[in-house]
Amino acid sequence: MDKKITTPVFPQINVPQVSDKGLPELIQDVQKRLNIQLTNYKQDYIKRRLLSRMNSTRSKDFVEYHQYLKTHPEEEEKLRNALTINVTKFLRDPDVFNLIGKEIFNSIVTAKRSIKIWSAGCSSGEEPYTYAILLHELSKAGINYNGAIIATDIDEEILKKARTGIYEKNALENLSENQISRHFEKTEDGKFKIRDHIKNMVRFQSHDLMKGVPIGRMFDVVSCRNVTIYFNEQQKKDLVKLVSESLGKDGFYIMGMSEYMSKDVEALFKPYKPMLKIFQKA
Ligand SMILES: C[S@@+](CC[C@H](N)C(=O)[O-])C[C@H]1O[C@@H](n2cnc3c(N)ncnc32)[C@H](O)[C@@H]1O
Repeated sequence: MDKKITTPVFPQINVPQVSDKGLPELIQDVQKRLNIQLTNYKQDYIKRRLLSRMNSTRSKDFVEYHQYLKTHPEEEEKLRNALTINVTKFLRDPDVFNLIGKEIFNSIVTAKRSIKIWSAGCSSGEEPYTYAILLHELSKAGINYNGAIIATDIDEEILKKARTGIYEKNALENLSENQISRHFEKTEDGKFKIRDHIKNMVRFQSHDLMKGVPIGRMFDVVSCRNVTIYFNEQQKKDLVKLVSESLGKDGFYIMGMSEYMSKDVEALFKPYKPMLKIFQKA
């Protein structure tokens, strides 16, 4: 078992080795309570995620954590988030990404002939590669520009997967057949490998958003979506400030559909398409 676990708030925590006593019962109950199927996941992955919640709830073993889960209803949602922490897909929220591709990217590259995008909290790469696909489609339409996509995450393991660029079919379900055949090749074991013309558009780098230091400045678009599950109110505000610092004039901030901006910092941005959680630097 891994001694180190990764959570967004406390990136590297040493956890004591715990025995597997009570683990099968816990997993069975979690599947029922959360109505999710955990048998698809590697046992090690599930254990690491459970350990992160045990650490946060100060439970010393799986039996104690199980008891905590039964007696604290609010823990269910936290556990669900912990188990799905890296969840992402290509063209997640199609309305958002289609608007970005057709309207926002188009207006930026037409005006500037260049575009700089930061996908912050990029997980296994589906989000930045989606941006690369959308940008590529612009150049196919005859618009020339210099483009750079920087993609960062705190989780080194997930970045390895992102760099490999190989995905299961279900990660691609929002893409059209046309997009799939143009930008992916099928591997021998039935997976989908992103083609080099898209892969080479994205640079992956490790970065902790909690450190408050932007990865760079003068970005045209910062996409920081579905990252703040474990951030407290102050950390969420600091993140909004960090995004504002990293954007150039009139730059765009793309948030997750269930994320929100606190009143204290909302003056840093003006609404662009607030229903789609797209804002522009004020
Ligand atoms: C649910 S995924 C979201 C992926 C993608 N942005 C999307 O919306 O589909 C959240 C990602 O945020 C990353 N993350 C969480 N806390 C972070 C932090 N402090 N700094 C950088 N990345 C973080 C996690 O490792 C995870 O890969």
